[in-house]
Amino acid sequence: MERTVLGIVLLFSLPLFAVEGTAPLISNVGARTTISLDGTWNTIIDPYETGLSSRFFENTKPKSKSDLVEYDFDHSPKLRVPGDWNSQHESLLFYEGPMWYQRYFSYQKREHARTFLYFGAANYLARVWLNGKKLGEHVGGYTPFDFEVTDQIVEGQNSVVVEVDNTRRADAVPSIHTDWWNYGGLTRSVELVEVPETFIEDYSISLAKGSSDQIQISLKLNGPPLFPIGAKGEKVPTVIIPELFVKEQCGNMQRFGVGEYLSCSVHAKPELWSPDKPRLYHVIIAAGEDHIADQIGFRTVETRGTEILLNGKPIFLRGICLHEEAPFRGGRAFSEEDDRTLLAWAKELGANFVRLAHYPHNEAMIRLADQMGLLVWDEVPVYWEMDFQNPATLENAKAQLRDVIARDHNRAAVALWSLSNETPISPARNAFLKSMAEYARQLDNTRLITSASDKAEHPDDEHATLNDALGEYLDVIGLNEYVGWYGKYRPEDADKMQWTFAYKKPVIVSEFGAGAAYGLHGDTDTRFTEEYQADLFKHQIGMLQRIPALAGMTPWILMDFRSPRRTLVGIQDYYNRKGVISDRGQRKQAFYVLQKFYRDKAEQDAGKH
Ligand code: GCU
Repeated sequence: MERTVLGIVLLFSLPLFAVEGTAPLISNVGARTTISLDGTWNTIIDPYETGLSSRFFENTKPKSKSDLVEYDFDHSPKLRVPGDWNSQHESLLFYEGPMWYQRYFSYQKREHARTFLYFGAANYLARVWLNGKKLGEHVGGYTPFDFEVTDQIVEGQNSVVVEVDNTRRADAVPSIHTDWWNYGGLTRSVELVEVPETFIEDYSISLAKGSSDQIQISLKLNGPPLFPIGAKGEKVPTVIIPELFVKEQCGNMQRFGVGEYLSCSVHAKPELWSPDKPRLYHVIIAAGEDHIADQIGFRTVETRGTEILLNGKPIFLRGICLHEEAPFRGGRAFSEEDDRTLLAWAKELGANFVRLAHYPHNEAMIRLADQMGLLVWDEVPVYWEMDFQNPATLENAKAQLRDVIARDHNRAAVALWSLSNETPISPARNAFLKSMAEYARQLDNTRLITSASDKAEHPDDEHATLNDALGEYLDVIGLNEYVGWYGKYRPEDADKMQWTFAYKKPVIVSEFGAGAAYGLHGDTDTRFTEEYQADLFKHQIGMLQRIPALAGMTPWILMDFRSPRRTLVGIQDYYNRKGVISDRGQRKQAFYVLQKFYRDKAEQDAGKH
């Protein structure tokens, strides 16, 4: 199988972390026939997880007054789905543990159709039952998963029960400690997906590595062979890009079976996608009875020495970090409206790049970045201390990497896969991340691999260096440094600090910043004032520009976000206040410092090309 040529290995070839009962991930669910199960669900808070032994998943009703049934979904509190439970009820803000969700839905079965139950995400562990029958389990709070329910779903009323448990565990991904709120629940949409018996499970359409006129296509079918060997006709898997006059039949007649990779490539000269011109093409993929439409941009991204090249030209990544925190209302963001607000603020800053920290954000965020012209750093939550020795933890991390790549690999906006953030150096950690890097390259060799390290050393007060061995496995070095906020240095010490890096690779300063409560004012020495933060940004911008290998930056962070570690009353109140915008959308002084720099930089760079 000529997969290496394909660049993006279709992702179901190597099942690793056996998450029980899940089906191969169906891509681009938004373009399929779906029935939404969003809305109000019955819920039972179950801190002692009695629901398993009491078989809540059967949703049993007492048959007589003497019958003992100690739960009743129908009369239990309600929660909205999608949505975390913590921000829906004051009493649940700090709740971590098992929560049971149940709802009924009616269904009409269709002939020759298969049905899947699809979750955009559930934090952290999800156990799923349909009509009392266990479908399976999934771990990982930020990637989609699905179950085939063709045989379990019934005509008429159905009952789905999901136990979601966001208890933190040392061997989990992420592990026990994070600087973001552990929002629990069915945090993204739940839907039924209907597909023909043989359907297009996944496809990848992109420019061949380093080419601007060769489009490589691969698609994977799921289901019985479309038709006997040697047959001819319109059911042949075909990719159509009308604006490029492309109509390409993919794969040879002998290979239209289950799980077969069909690949082909076609000569075409698309207008290339870039942040300034986020050109997307309408693409139709057809095979048998199945048809999917998508909006796809074509671009290449690579490195040359310490430069990052977009479409063969050096680009400076004017970025900002953001969490998937909902603006104004707080809680895990999930809607296109939430996402559009956040990305519009990034655009207003003059950014052409966003680091989505520290886990895969919802799919709408990535698709909007495609449309709005923002390059994306897509990360999996291998964060701080982790159980690096534990093979199951590695499998878990790899499964999350596999699934985010499966979901986002057709998005031109995604330029970098990030494997981790601020992990402590050790042989086990290095081996863990080496294995992750190899796996990422195996899955997709058309994008750049990176990670954020905060392991810089200061041989003296005027020098700083990053020698983290992790750099060996990466295409782009991510540096988190908090000169002027954490540690002994003052913001102005940045003015004389010179950085060096062990690896001659492009460097993105993936975090720097300072806390500031919106509206708190004082001199530049007073912590948490807007003046302190703005002043630190000025010194940082000066220091960063003196890094020869600097290819981009993503200051920490776009908007204040909830964190259980931020307890300073009257200032933090369980919010990390390093946003340049408050959680209520108020722009701090630092916002304008950064905006000015980015506008000048954009003008400067525009003059170069
Ligand atoms: C770290 C970390 C972030 C955290 C930030 C902070 O660098 O990567 O997740 O929120 O610092 O301390 O504010």
